[in-house]
Formats: sequence, structure tokens, C-alpha cells
Amino acid sequence: ATPPTSWDRPLEGKVAVVTGAARGIGATIAEVFARDGATVIVADIPAAGEALSQTANKVGGTALALDVTSPDAAAKLAEFATERFGGIDIVVHNAGITRDKLLANMDEGRWNSVLNVNLAAPHRITEGLVARGALKDGGRVIDVSSIAGIAGNRGQTNYGTSKAGVIGMVNAEAPKLAEKGITINAVAPGFIETAMTAAIPLATREAGRLMSSLLQGGQTVDVAETIAYFAGPASNAVTGNVVRVCGQSLI
Ligand code: NAI
Repeated sequence: ATPPTSWDRPLEGKVAVVTGAARGIGATIAEVFARDGATVIVADIPAAGEALSQTANKVGGTALALDVTSPDAAAKLAEFATERFGGIDIVVHNAGITRDKLLANMDEGRWNSVLNVNLAAPHRITEGLVARGALKDGGRVIDVSSIAGIAGNRGQTNYGTSKAGVIGMVNAEAPKLAEKGITINAVAPGFIETAMTAAIPLATREAGRLMSSLLQGGQTVDVAETIAYFAGPASNAVTGNVVRVCGQSLI
């Protein structure tokens, strides 16, 4: 086949949903998608309020207050996107939380909330969108795992388990979604400079940066561009894959 002469606005005509898009990696994914021509729905918890509206304005997109853990999240999203835009082409499960504690202090609340937001919600929403026919044929699902789900991280048994689970989920869902022409892939970012990692104590933060042979924290745009590849026509033949967005670990 002959390669296209240009990938200018490769997402033109596509409707994309990004969860956890009020700030951080999610907000940058929305920007990159809008640049590439997509119509973007940015979703975040109701408490994100003003920050979510700002992201929506910046990308010329539409804001949706949506807690991904609510039981009716898929129904709400499907209805919203179908009524306004006729369905969804791309969904990025980016919303995620950490509730770090060393194992002895890892109470059930911390365990459950992290597993719910990071793992159960993406699964429930993907299934719910497909069941309602809201995710179009040829659709794309992109999950956000983490290097913590591959290499592990002290104090993050809940988080690492959820992010390892995301990789298992992508592997398991890929063949089933392929029957509908939908691909599902994941990114596993290393240390990325965001509010989430700024909250980490200094020594751990420096160790995080050393976990990449590039000797730096990545930027949100590094993750967003990798996700744009999975969302766009250049990855038509790619499903069930995970790309680590980081260097090799030095420690
Ligand atoms: P962040 O904390 O800056 O942003 C996360 C967003 O998700 C926030 O706007 C938050 O309100 C939203 N959110 C949380 N719970 C939600 C819920 N129940 N429903 C809807 N939205 C919800 O985090 P950051 O750093 O931008 O991370 C984004 C994703 O990337 C997460 O899944 C995180 O686990 C993952 N990641 C981040 C890394 C980093 O170094 N920053 C490394 C590897 C993965």
C-alpha cells in the first residue's frame, strides 16, 4: 500500500472522549486530539468544575461532569455522546488516582478506591459503551496503565495492582473487541511531571526521575502523542499492545 501523502488532522471527523481531562495528562491528550481534528468530550469528576470548563474552552470541546466510578457512568456517557455527536470513535480511560501507603497500612478503603477508579471503571465503561452500540465500528479504546504496574513501586501495592490489571484487561478484551473492528491498547507512562507526581515527597520524586535512562521526568505531551498514535489511522493494525512511555530503568 502507498503511504498517505500527509497525516494532517488525522482525527478529523472523529468523536473522542477523554476521562480525567481537567488537568495533567488528560488535559494534554484533549489538546493533542483537538489539534489532530477530533471533536473532544472532556470528562472529569463534578468537583473539577472550573478546571474542566477551562480545558473544554481551550480545546473547543464539550465538558461532561462524570465520575467514572458511578454505576451509570457508561449509560450517561453513551446518551450524552450519542445525542450530541451520534456516537463515540475514541475513548481514553485516563482518570486515575493514587492512595499510597506501605503494605502494613494499606487499609481496604485505599485498596478499593484505587482499584475502582483505575481498573473497574474503565472495564465497566468500555463494556457499557459497546453493549449500547455507542462505540462505533472501527473505534479505539486506549487505557492508561503505568510503569508501576510493570516494575512495581514501594507503597503502591494498590496502584501497581490496578495498573498491572489494566494490561491484563487490554490483553483479554482485544480479541472480543476486534470482532467489532475496535482496537484496544495501553500506554504505561514512567515518571511524568504532573500535579500527581508533584505531590510525591522529594526523595521519591528524584528516584522516580532516575527510573528512566533518559534521566528526566517525561512531559504530559510525551504520553499524549503516544495515545494519539493509538487513536489515529497509523495504528490500524495494532491491538492488544502496551507501549511504555519512558526510558529503561536505571535502578
Ligand atoms: P492528575 O491527578 O493530574 O489528573 C487525574 C485526573 O483524573 C484529575 O483531573 C482527577 O479529577 C480525575 N479523576 C480522578 N478520579 C476520577 C473519577 N472517579 N472520575 C473522573 N475523573 C477522575 O494525574 P495525571 O498525572 O495527569 O495522571 C493521569 C493518568 O496517568 C492516571 O491514570 C495516572 O495513574 C496515569 N499515570 C501518571 C503518571 C505520572 O507520572 N503522572 C505515570 C503513570 C501513569
